[in-house]
Order: sequence, then C-alpha cells, then structure tokens
Amino acid sequence: MHPGPAGPGAIRPLAVDPEKADAERGRALDAEKCADCHAGDGAGRKRSHPVWGGRSYNRGAGLANTPQLAAWLNKVAMPLDDPHLTEPETLDVAACVNAHGRPAFKLEEHLPPAAELGEYNAAADAPGR
Ligand code: HEC
Repeated sequence: MHPGPAGPGAIRPLAVDPEKADAERGRALDAEKCADCHAGDGAGRKRSHPVWGGRSYNRGAGLANTPQLAAWLNKVAMPLDDPHLTEPETLDVAACVNAHGRPAFKLEEHLPPAAELGEYNAAADAPGR
C-alpha cells in the first residue's frame, strides 16, 4: 500500500535545541533574507503569502509551531528555492516570524453547519434528544 504523501509532519525536526531560539537575532535575518518577498511588515507581496498579521496562517497551523516552521524552512522551503540558512539561523528566523500576531484558530469556522454534522457530533442539548 502507498504510504501517502509526505506532509509537514514527515519533516525531521532540527537537531538544534528549540529553547535556543532567539527572535531578536531572527529579526535581522528576516530583514536580510525574507523581507524582499514577504515585505518588512510580514504582509506578503503579490506572489508571496503574508507570514504574520491578520491574513497569515492561523495559530492552529503547523507553521505556528516554531520548531516545525524552522524545520520546514531549513529542509524544504525558504528562502524560496534556495534554503541555505543554518539550523540555528532558521530557528531564530522562525521564532521572529511566530513572535508576531496572527489570527486565532476557531474550530467552528471550519465545520459544516450543525444540521450536517451527524448524530455523534450533535450538541447534547439539541432538540430531539
Ligand atoms: C524569492 C521570494 C521569497 C523569499 C526570499 C522568501 N519567501 Fe517565503 N514564500 C515565498 C512564496 C512565493 C511563498 C508561497 C509558496 C507556496 O505557496 O508554494 C512563500 C511561503 C512562505 C511561508 C508559508 C506561508 C503560508 O501561509 O503558507 C512561510 C512561513 C515563509 N514563506 C517564510 C519565509 C521566511 C522565514 C523567509 C526567509 C528565511 C522566506 N519565506 C523567504 C517567497 C519567498
């Protein structure tokens, strides 16, 4: 059987200790390596996503987890097509990106209407119970 596509969870964590993340050091790296595409205020540009602020990935996203974001940046993705930062550098830049505000994850915004949820997910006090 095919194991399925390799998602973000398949990326090996970095060897560097997540406790060593330094958002302040990451800020300089962000300005140097990321802001050309994502803008200095994290809002993104025409072809690159916002990385923080009201239109960025929400706090429930895998990328909102700093070690996971760092591993993705380091092993797969950023700077786009040229991921060349060291492990400590990607950890710092990930800490900087995730130190900014972003939308909350609201489960109800991702669910179908209550009537379509089915019996097991219906509220205990729903009519007919
Ligand atoms: C050459 C332009 C470029 C540079 C430089 C760049 N990015 Fe990106 N970034 C992109 C593009 C384009 C995407 C969207 C990729 C996609 O959806 O396939 C993206 C996506 C992302 C995402 C995912 C956002 C989401 O909601 O899916 C994050 C996080 C990110 N970049 C962080 C960074 C960081 C941190 C740096 C600096 C180390 C960086 N990027 C440098 C162009 C760039």
